[in-house]
Amino acid sequence: MSVLSVINHKGGVAKTTTSINVAANWAAQGKKVLVVDLDPQSSATHAVFGNRDFDTTIYDVLTNRGRISDAIISGENFGFDMIPSELLLSGVDIELAAHYGRERILKRQLDLIRRDYDAIIIDCSPSLGLLTVNALMASQDIIIPICPEYFSIKGIDLILDTLKNIRVGLGHKIGVRGVVITRYRNRKVINDVIEKLSAKYGIHVFDSFIPDNIAVEEAHHNHLPVSKYSPRCKGAQAYCSLSEEIWQ
Ligand SMILES: Nc1ncnc2c1ncn2[C@@H]1O[C@H](COP(=O)(O)OP(=O)(O)OP(=O)(O)O)[C@@H](O)[C@H]1O
Ligand SMILES: [Mg+2]
Repeated sequence: MSVLSVINHKGGVAKTTTSINVAANWAAQGKKVLVVDLDPQSSATHAVFGNRDFDTTIYDVLTNRGRISDAIISGENFGFDMIPSELLLSGVDIELAAHYGRERILKRQLDLIRRDYDAIIIDCSPSLGLLTVNALMASQDIIIPICPEYFSIKGIDLILDTLKNIRVGLGHKIGVRGVVITRYRNRKVINDVIEKLSAKYGIHVFDSFIPDNIAVEEAHHNHLPVSKYSPRCKGAQAYCSLSEEIWQ
């Protein structure tokens, strides 16, 4: 069983879209998958459930107001289980600032239920604060979605520095499973990005690139994985092969 965080402090690079579509493809193959929405914006929760309220969310779990087993709900059309988020999560950095062991709260909670799953995906917020540190401490690996049009070496440096701080400061070694190229429009730009990534860092880039495809966005707003919304579209096919690649 592996726990995988999808991270990039840059906003709008398809962290949430990648988390829920990869998880849905794995679930469709019969795997038992849990998605944790660790973003106060709650995009994954909204994509799956629309505007619904929940008795127990990841906020309650992290602040010891609720049990993790009570926060898990079925992700309906997506086939996976989910722990939803809510806006209150945005205050958690301050709320937990004086809490001993605050970086390992999510890990301790996931340890209680991880044996029920073949994989857990954590959809992170566009920041590298305490929430993302909790995600990293609970994960074996990360996946970094990147939009090639907005690619920056400085951004990758910042993520790798964070991983180094986690290793040196908190004693947890975490791997980079790979970079996912998302929302690409121009294949030539991709080649430049791959060259930079492999030349400077030796980071693996998954072969399945995700094109900018309106059906991917429409699926999001229709509360469906793209594989169900428009199974033959380029976005669905790309996410299908990406899911297989990541699982290997
Ligand atoms: N391949 C794609 N083609 C078209 N639109 C896409 C694609 N991938 C994602 N989008 C759209 O781009 C927007 C941002 O995607 P998403 O919410 O997944 O990014 P994010 O990295 O999770 O953002 P944030 O940093 O705010 O959490 C959404 O409206 C989503 O539907
Ligand atoms: Mg997101």
